[in-house]
Amino acid sequence: MSSLLKARIAFVIAIGLLLACALIVYGALHAFTESERAVQHAQHIQVLLGTTESAIAAAARARLTYVFSGDADALSQYNQAVATIPTELADLRQSTRHNPEQQAQCDTLERLVGDRMKLWEDSINLKKSGQSEPPGQPEMTRQSVAFADGIVAVTQKMRHEEAAELEQTRASSRMHLIVAVAFLAISFITAVLLLFWHYRLVRGELEAREIAESQARKAADAASEAEKKARASESVALASNEAARKLSARLMSLQDEERRRLSRDLHDSTGQYLAAAKMVLSPLATAHPEDKRFAECTELLDRSLREIRTLSHLLHPSGLEEAGFSVAARWYVEGFASRSGITVKTDIQDLGQRLASDVEITLFRILQEALTNIHRHSGSRSAEVSFKADNGNVVLVVRDFGTGIPAMALEQFRASGGAGVGLAGMRERIHEVGGTLDIESSGNGTCVRAALPRSNSEAFAAGGELAS
Ligand SMILES: Nc1ncnc2c1ncn2[C@@H]1O[C@H](COP(=O)(O)OP(=O)(O)OP(=O)(O)O)[C@@H](O)[C@H]1O
Ligand SMILES: [Mg+2]
Repeated sequence: MSSLLKARIAFVIAIGLLLACALIVYGALHAFTESERAVQHAQHIQVLLGTTESAIAAAARARLTYVFSGDADALSQYNQAVATIPTELADLRQSTRHNPEQQAQCDTLERLVGDRMKLWEDSINLKKSGQSEPPGQPEMTRQSVAFADGIVAVTQKMRHEEAAELEQTRASSRMHLIVAVAFLAISFITAVLLLFWHYRLVRGELEAREIAESQARKAADAASEAEKKARASESVALASNEAARKLSARLMSLQDEERRRLSRDLHDSTGQYLAAAKMVLSPLATAHPEDKRFAECTELLDRSLREIRTLSHLLHPSGLEEAGFSVAARWYVEGFASRSGITVKTDIQDLGQRLASDVEITLFRILQEALTNIHRHSGSRSAEVSFKADNGNVVLVVRDFGTGIPAMALEQFRASGGAGVGLAGMRERIHEVGGTLDIESSGNGTCVRAALPRSNSEAFAAGGELAS
């Protein structure tokens, strides 16, 4: 059970006990009020008994005065006192109606008072008649006193009964009070203890929450610190990527430059010397047909010249600068097909406008690398080369029907750049001039697609870099 649930249960029990305390206090107050009422009732009965006794005593005294003095005032006092007695008795009966014991005493009292009043009436009538018949006034007075003793005995009994009832009510109230106070004390102490326990549990929970919150804050701070560091190292990585990319672009441009220089040197220097040597040797070969060495040397010089021209062309296709990409590409593909024995179907369009020189050299290098890869890796006996304008782009597509690029090499190319320099170089070059390179490859062959916005190419041209 979680501490929060325990705290809730403790709180609910404590509140329940406090409510029980309130009910007990209410019950105790009620019992106290009842006890007060019982005391008042007992006092009322005492007063009624007193007034009844007084009225009887007053009537007895007035009767006695009248009998012995014949005083008319005494007779009138007697009549007045006697008239109040039934009312007093009725009050007494009414007030003790809940107590059968007292009701029985009331019966006795009424009977005794009735008998005594009858005796008084006889005594007064005897006085009024002036006769002295037996039993006579003294005897009647003695009987009246006997009745008085009986009446006093009954009223005493009634007093005792009232006192006993009052004592019983008080004892019951006292017991109620003791039980209530005990229960009140136990409930109150238990409720206070439960509330204290609830407070401890809630405080523990709050402290645990504060600790968890501060730990979460620390973790968030650490995470944001780590994020900052990661961002910093990411920007460092981006910067070094950018530097590497620039370096690579610079290397490729230097490589192009170097190839162009080598090509020119081979063509203009070695090629010229070889041509001159052939010019010197040709007349000698014609003059000495019997000496086969001249003819062999001429043949060797021819081959060397062809090789030098091919090499010079591959290093920097001279036709590219003069005739533009489309023408140079057709020448190159024809040469490639005849040298490699691979049938190449071409669909190379003339765009009607020259592209920027670095765009043209980029496209040409991509064409060279793609065809070289087909020859070296694909095992395909045929290939297709197309170059056209398409939706505002210029697009070069080189396709073969060979084994396809191994999955790992393709994945490596997509993730980082490629297993070799060729594919990665293609991509670097095309990115440099604002284009994209897509390679699709499967067991049925490979398709290399290089595209760049025509506006880009022409913007270069407008920049004055076009070698037209
Ligand atoms: N047309 C293709 N058909 C089949 N596999 C290919 C083709 N082109 C590339 N590959 C595979 O992709 C790999 C990477 O090619 P990439 O041109 O980058 O390197 P390379 O040709 O091996 O070396 P280099 O750096 O000299 O070009 C190759 O080694 C080859 O396995
Ligand atoms: Mg390659």
